[in-house]
Order: sequence, then C-alpha cells, then structure tokens
Amino acid sequence: MSLISLEHVSKTYPNGHKALDDVSVSVAAGEVLAIIGPSGCGKSTLLRTVNGLEPVDSGQILVNGRDVASKQTKLKDVRSDVGMVFQSYDLFPHLTVMDNLLLAPKVVKGADLAEARSRALALLERVGLAEKADARPRELSGGQKQRVAIVRALMMHPKALLLDEITASLDPEIVREVLDVVVGLARDGMTMIVVTHEMGFARAVADRVAFMDAGHIVEIAPPEEFFAAPTSERAQRFLDQLVF
Ligand SMILES: Nc1ncnc2c1ncn2[C@@H]1O[C@H](COP(=O)(O)OP(=O)(O)OP(=O)(O)O)[C@@H](O)[C@H]1O
Ligand SMILES: [Mg+2]
Repeated sequence: MSLISLEHVSKTYPNGHKALDDVSVSVAAGEVLAIIGPSGCGKSTLLRTVNGLEPVDSGQILVNGRDVASKQTKLKDVRSDVGMVFQSYDLFPHLTVMDNLLLAPKVVKGADLAEARSRALALLERVGLAEKADARPRELSGGQKQRVAIVRALMMHPKALLLDEITASLDPEIVREVLDVVVGLARDGMTMIVVTHEMGFARAVADRVAFMDAGHIVEIAPPEEFFAAPTSERAQRFLDQLVF
C-alpha cells in the first residue's frame, strides 16, 4: 500500500502560473522517490502540497490514508506523519540545539519531555552531533545546522520525510556529511521524497527517480534505468547539460 499518493493533482498559483499539471505518483512505505528537473518545474510545489502547505485545485492527495484536502483532516495530523526539511535550516537562533529540538514535543499535550530529550540526544548522536546539544545555531557549520534540521524533523516519529534541496546552500565539501545521514535513513527504511539536483545522491538513495518539467512528471524509473537511458528527449537534454 502506498503511504503517499497523488492522483491527477493540478495547481495554479493566483498569478495564473500552472505549477502542477495532472501529476499522479505514489510512494510506498519504505520507498525513496527522488524528484529532479529544471528550476521552476514544480518540485517544491509538489512537496508542499503533500503536507498541506499548498492547497491544490483538483485531484487528490492521500497521506497515510488521510485525504489532505478533506475538511475532516487535521493538517496537524498530516504534518506529524510527514516531516519536512528545507534548503534553509530555519532553526531558531536564540535557542540551543536541544531547545530547537524540543519545541515540537513541548506543544504536544502531556508529552513526556524526558523521553523527548533522550530521543533528541540519541538522534544527535546518530548524526554525529551529540556534543552540540547546548550549542546555538550560529556556533554550527551549515552542514551541522542541516543535520540538526533533519533531527528536528525526526523528533515526532514521522512516517515519511520530505526533503527539498537540503544541500543546496552548502559548500561542496560539506554536502557529503548531510547526504550520508539521508542515505542512513533510507537504509533504515524511512519513506522519503527527496528533491535534489545532486544526481549522484539521487542515484545512491532513490528507489525511483521522477523527472519533472513544466508541472508534469515526464518520466519515472529506477535510477539505474533513468540515468543510463532516459526515455524522453527533455530528460536527455536536462542530463546532458549537467556538469558532473
Ligand atoms: N507562491 C507562488 N506564487 C506564484 N507562483 C509561484 C509561487 N511559488 C512558485 N511559483 C511558480 O511556480 C513554478 C514552480 O515553482 P517551484 O518552486 O515549485 O519550482 P521548483 O521546481 O522547486 O524550482 P527550483 O528548482 O528553482 O526550486 C515556478 O514557475 C514558480 O515561479
Ligand atoms: Mg524548489
């Protein structure tokens, strides 16, 4: 059964720009879907629709059995099922790493904060940042901040993660440490939709790669097939112009 599914989803922004045009795709539990494609093709819009940050005009999105657009659905529930990490880490600068991680657990009624704290420490340990719990974001490198942002998304036991170009603002030599964390999560069976322009990463982490252009998913295939022989002329051109 799929954990996330989009069926004939279309979305036009108020300025008239059609960002998603009849998109259908589903992601099974434990699967990693990478989304690639040129700037402006609708990748971020697609991710934002999945956790209800962006309403759609038509079509249906199901997350863990919930219809995201339904009035009966609480977006809070959808967002606790799917954590999201963006290109900018947006940690609160005045809070320590630990306090950033405890923000979400603290607003849950009756949450066990001791348990949340030990989960935070275990997750920090896992991403190699155990000693940074009391640091402030400005004392961390970009890669460290992004690893904290991933831990923050994991704090509420999400069933899936949506990652939007999480290495795009990092120096090339730091990209690796963040991608390694994601590869580890994939190995552990975390369901993910990963928007990236790191083709090596898409190849390493994805079960399937979706190539988007102008609001459409043009083709979708396992990475070894897609990168060896993209079937659409548009994807071939996209790959040809990349610098490896
Ligand atoms: N809030 C908005 N209002 C109007 N148009 C928007 C809005 N957000 C995005 N768009 C437009 O919708 C299209 C898709 O944008 P989106 O951010 O999803 O692209 P993207 O594939 O993530 O691009 P990039 O690779 O540059 O991040 C673009 O043409 C963009 O200009
Ligand atoms: Mg984007």
